[in-house]
Amino acid sequence: MDSKRITVPQIAAHKNREKPLVCLTAYTAPMAKILDPHVDLLLVGDSLGMALYGMENTLGVDLEMMIRHGQAVMRGVKNACVIVDMPFGSYEESPAHALRSAMRVMKETGCDGVKLEGGAEMAETIKYLTSRNIPVMAHIGLLPQSVVKDGGYKVKGRQADEAQRIIEDAKAIEAAGAFAVVIEGTVEDVAADITRIIGIPTIGIGASPACDGQILVTEDMIGLLDGKPAKFVREFARVREVIDSAAAAYAEAVRTRAFPSAEQTYTRPKAVDANKKAS
Ligand code: KIV
Repeated sequence: MDSKRITVPQIAAHKNREKPLVCLTAYTAPMAKILDPHVDLLLVGDSLGMALYGMENTLGVDLEMMIRHGQAVMRGVKNACVIVDMPFGSYEESPAHALRSAMRVMKETGCDGVKLEGGAEMAETIKYLTSRNIPVMAHIGLLPQSVVKDGGYKVKGRQADEAQRIIEDAKAIEAAGAFAVVIEGTVEDVAADITRIIGIPTIGIGASPACDGQILVTEDMIGLLDGKPAKFVREFARVREVIDSAAAAYAEAVRTRAFPSAEQTYTRPKAVDANKKAS
């Protein structure tokens, strides 16, 4: 059966449009199924390390986790383009290493492409992958896989030299063949300059409305995680409160024997009463 899902070339062509690209993360089949009708692109992000597994950062996420969750998301989608993150340690060593990892992700999940972090320093790798039929979404600005090296999550582009470096990164990954780029945690005028200068769509997360699209971690967007959300997050729902009150109501119903009630209890049909049949 032919897939009707949004393709990488369709995402790549979504530039300077009136309506920005709508992107979210997904890690599981049920969540992908709920989000799918509303989005253009689902990212199986390595943010699953924190959002699903309670890790401190993304550095502990490995290729097997990304492949398993990529497979789950692919089972839930009918519409969206699906991109899977390359985790820390799966692509930095050499372009050939990156190709082996990316091939596994593409073959074993059936996704549409991969995303990797880095600008000019990753351009050779991006070129190696894109010239071998691996669609690559780049990721520049704040790079979560560099959190230990950077000493925290720091907004990028406030200083002129750093702003210039991010712009050069954007040009380098475009020249290397990336079909789109995530710009994370970057000041508005830098994101706006990049969006104007390069010909591929920019997808912002904490990078202002100037981008060609927006992405958020779904668990942030639905208000599932506790703690104060980052400045760039808007909680469109408060799902942790819904779950909390559902769990409290369930616990109360079990403790008072109000659950399960007759409605949730199996009974034997009268017609097949065992004693009567035997006599
Ligand atoms: O891992 C992730 O979810 C991401 C988004 C924050 C863009 O890379």
